[in-house]
Amino acid sequence: MANTDLNAAKKAKNDEFYTQYSDIQKEVNAYLEFDPDTFRDKTVLLPCDDPEWSKFTRFFAENFERLGLRKLVSTSYAVESKKFRAPYLPTLFETDAPQFDEAKTRVKGKIFVLDHDTNGSGRIDLDDLQWKYLDGDGDFRSDEVKRLRDETDIIVTNPPFSLFREFLAWIMEADKKFLVIGNMNTINTKDVFPLVVSGKLWTGNGFTNGNAYFQVADGTKTSYADGVYDSTTNLVKFRNCCWYTNLEHGRRHQPLQLMSMSDNIRYSRHREIRDVGYRHYDNYDAIEVPYSDAIPSDYDGVMGVPVTFLDKFCPEQFEIVGITKTWFGAATKVYPEQVQIDANGVRKSVTKLNDGAVLKIDEPPKGSTWYEVGGERFIQTYPRILIRRRKTP
Ligand SMILES: C[S@@+](CC[C@H](N)C(=O)[O-])C[C@H]1O[C@@H](n2cnc3c(N)ncnc32)[C@H](O)[C@@H]1O
Repeated sequence: MANTDLNAAKKAKNDEFYTQYSDIQKEVNAYLEFDPDTFRDKTVLLPCDDPEWSKFTRFFAENFERLGLRKLVSTSYAVESKKFRAPYLPTLFETDAPQFDEAKTRVKGKIFVLDHDTNGSGRIDLDDLQWKYLDGDGDFRSDEVKRLRDETDIIVTNPPFSLFREFLAWIMEADKKFLVIGNMNTINTKDVFPLVVSGKLWTGNGFTNGNAYFQVADGTKTSYADGVYDSTTNLVKFRNCCWYTNLEHGRRHQPLQLMSMSDNIRYSRHREIRDVGYRHYDNYDAIEVPYSDAIPSDYDGVMGVPVTFLDKFCPEQFEIVGITKTWFGAATKVYPEQVQIDANGVRKSVTKLNDGAVLKIDEPPKGSTWYEVGGERFIQTYPRILIRRRKTP
């Protein structure tokens, strides 16, 4: 099965893919290992959920007592409001309930609440979930769902990826604890990166090997590229997906095991570093470190590292000081218009060299894009996070 990223789904505005129970369980357990009381006595809201499909409601309801929850609230989005609609038939769970309403089932969202033992079983679990139709369609931006947000302690979900930034702003404006799934590429953006720098958001424990598999609804399979959807498991695979959170977990405090600069130059497994060393950017006061495992343990200056470093970021080991994006404003120079020469030798006037870290080169690279400005040659790196090591006291 081939890999892809979430951008295709985001472009197509297809938000209908569903998180697996085992991924939710593994992630939540990582927080409990760090602090068994993470969810104790808390109200948890699961917005943008869909208990007919979603495993979030199931997981939190089944583990209500183990987590020590005070209250669980989950809301679903009306089928008529969804951009991608699978063939819709209300479930027996809905049609068998006395509150089932044919006029509402397609156009209203639903709210599910769990906070006490309703059936006298002696425990609070999935069978005690109460539900009703919302007044509106369950849009997280509605006043109705905003009120639920304001009353909650922790927001947990896999939100619509096409609205991810808006969803994050919705959490931030209410200043809530959260655990949500998103696209790793979002972290480069003007809205999200400042939250990382100020320590208001970090990546969670993560999916196994960084690969996330989601279940899709029957009618939406065809919207995925060939090879992404696996018919035997009914799963789609996304590679650049992660959990974002402001809840503490243990992995975040495990420092990376790194070699000194001189040992890297001697022994690094990366040919860009071994016997070559670290290059200084032409337009940032930092050195280029193209792999997180090649970060030198003893360098005191600023280093540009891949965005995927954030998944390994330990705040006691490093400080995040910036990003090589124009909007961040850390560049030390601005290039005049450049000539871009692509892999086929096609030349074009551009200004894009300013949006990233730049390395000066002696010879044009074979098979990749480079730039010429004022008789000098340059290449641009992928976006880099700028970090500095924290000195041990
Ligand atoms: C990626 S799916 C995840 C569903 C579920 N949370 C899970 O992980 O299994 C996102 C869900 O959000 C719903 N959605 C889309 N736009 C929404 C909005 N404005 N408000 C609330 N839910 C929305 C989609 O219909 C979809 O069911």
